[in-house]
Amino acid sequence: MRFLNAVIVVASLCSPVFPQSWVASRFYDAASGITYSSVTMPNGVSYRLALPIDSPNADGIVQVVAPSKYGWCGFAWGGRMTGNPLTVAWPSKAANGEPVTVSNRWATGYSSVPTAYTGASHTYLPISPSTINSTHWTVTSRCQGCTRWGTTNIEAATSVTFAYACSTVAPSNPASNTSSFSVHESPGRWAHDLTIAKNGSFATWVG
Ligand code: HEM
Repeated sequence: MRFLNAVIVVASLCSPVFPQSWVASRFYDAASGITYSSVTMPNGVSYRLALPIDSPNADGIVQVVAPSKYGWCGFAWGGRMTGNPLTVAWPSKAANGEPVTVSNRWATGYSSVPTAYTGASHTYLPISPSTINSTHWTVTSRCQGCTRWGTTNIEAATSVTFAYACSTVAPSNPASNTSSFSVHESPGRWAHDLTIAKNGSFATWVG
């Protein structure tokens, strides 16, 4: 028993600290009419999710609302950095076009920039254009392919573990969704209620 306790202590010292206390709640976005399951992280970033009741194409809407100081923020659909779809977003700094860039990524390790993920596609939602104001940048993106990969299907779950990471350093070429970017600050992980996220109006919102 003493040996087991020692193993648990050593293991806990080696792992990053991931509090589980961030609870998702219903959020109605009056500007777009979309109802999300929303959670706000200790660093001030909100991640909001809306899902169809039943999806033929692994559909989902993700909204990221990040304090201006963040150069990029990422959302990990499988609750870890590697081996799951990553939705990464950052202000585009472009004079024209989209104010916020969204990028599909997939990481196979911790020592390099996650690469483009062809198993999912992100599109901007006309009913919820990206915004940048004096305090935050906001992007709403539809992802087709983010809720299923390999043998995982998170649509079937009522609660799933998601993860996030942000950096105050902007990507090197922010107008491009294939831009390189540097490592994040402390990442986080939480259990997210998907029952709130599922909504019969989903088809209208993406239509
Ligand atoms: C240049 C790009 C990136 C580099 C070099 C990088 C590097 C690393 C390293 C070294 C760790 C382990 C140390 C630690 O736990 O703090 C880590 C963990 C983590 N990273 Fe990244 N990262 C990058 C991008 C991303 C992106 C885009 C996400 C998207 C959400 C992400 C999510 C995470 C998460 C959730 C962890 C915790 C461990 C895990 O669950 O896998 N990272 N990263």
